[in-house]
Amino acid sequence: MARKFKKLVANSYSRDFRSVAEVVEAELVDPGDGQVLVKNHFGGVNASDINISGGVYFSDGVFPMALGCESAGEVVAVGNGVVGFEEGDLVVSPYLGSAFTEYLYREPARLVKVTDISPGTMSAINAGCTASIGLEVVGEMGSGETVLVTAAAGGVGNWVVQLAKRAGNHVIGTCSTEAKAERLKTLGCDRVILYRDEDLGTVLRSEYPDGIDLIFEQVGEETFDTCIDNVATRGRVLICGFISEYQDGPQEVLAPRVYHKLLWKSAQLRGFLHSHWPDRFQEHLTRNIQLIEDGSIDPQIDSKSFVGVDEAVDAVEYLHNGKNTGKVVVQYR
Ligand SMILES: NC(=O)c1ccc[n+]([C@@H]2O[C@H](COP(=O)([O-])OP(=O)(O)OC[C@H]3O[C@@H](n4cnc5c(N)ncnc54)[C@H](OP(=O)(O)O)[C@@H]3O)[C@@H](O)[C@H]2O)c1
Repeated sequence: MARKFKKLVANSYSRDFRSVAEVVEAELVDPGDGQVLVKNHFGGVNASDINISGGVYFSDGVFPMALGCESAGEVVAVGNGVVGFEEGDLVVSPYLGSAFTEYLYREPARLVKVTDISPGTMSAINAGCTASIGLEVVGEMGSGETVLVTAAAGGVGNWVVQLAKRAGNHVIGTCSTEAKAERLKTLGCDRVILYRDEDLGTVLRSEYPDGIDLIFEQVGEETFDTCIDNVATRGRVLICGFISEYQDGPQEVLAPRVYHKLLWKSAQLRGFLHSHWPDRFQEHLTRNIQLIEDGSIDPQIDSKSFVGVDEAVDAVEYLHNGKNTGKVVVQYR
């Protein structure tokens, strides 16, 4: 009897991940011509997993759709014509459809070779590269600036805090609980704002009257509005994400257009998806893994264990319920 493996797929679109995610079994066959077969060791959980299941990125109607978007594993077979990969190579797959499956069939161009894989590697892929490409390439981060990051204790956020601090900036971070705040302080966050206890706008206006130079915004809704109101003259607001709208969709607002707030401060609003910088990805991934290896960055893996495809839905909900500190990872070994 042929061997089988498990993977998580959706057969329709919904932002309610649990309602469409289905564990199915597929036959484990040899890779086709030009394909590499990867045995996943880890899958990364991301806020955007519910955007993917909701058809926000792609809504081409092709089903079943493999869920998730990043994994790390080991090459176990290569198809005819594959050059540059062999059995035993360790690889990362930073593309849609890779996270929640025990095995992965991929073209070589959609794999990145790495020297080691661990939960820390998972933190360096989407989270690390979003933070470093966002701060350095899009945000043109300097030194001696004030940097604010919202959702600071999450997968991307903890990288932003550490990279901004290493670059010599004053770092402000928002989060929901004392335990997360304590962790952020150990990472070098100069001012942690517990947004359920303190009003973000009041703190920023009173403690940072000159405004914030670089804002890494991941939450959306009122948090985004407050960031725009408190950006410094010649400051930059980076739109990394808006997690508060992912479950229920866009909030309708009636307000003056945003240029009324930005022009008078020569301030800039810059949206970005790290995937629009494929030319910088390998360089950032290699550098971020190195930063973990030499102890310069703590990868901050969330302590809750999720094992196997069967627990992937729980992992996605755990993140969206705001329970995580750092990167959420599903393990397959
Ligand atoms: N632009 C890109 O290329 C890119 C790539 C990857 C991720 N992102 C974005 O980066 C952000 C963080 O993603 P991530 O995967 O690293 O997730 P994450 O930050 O690890 O997890 C989500 C965290 O967001 C916080 N949060 C604040 N308001 C929330 C709300 N209304 N609902 C749910 N959570 C809320 C929660 O912590 P607290 O409440 O304690 O703050 C929660 O733990 C997301 O907006 C994501 O879309 C963008």
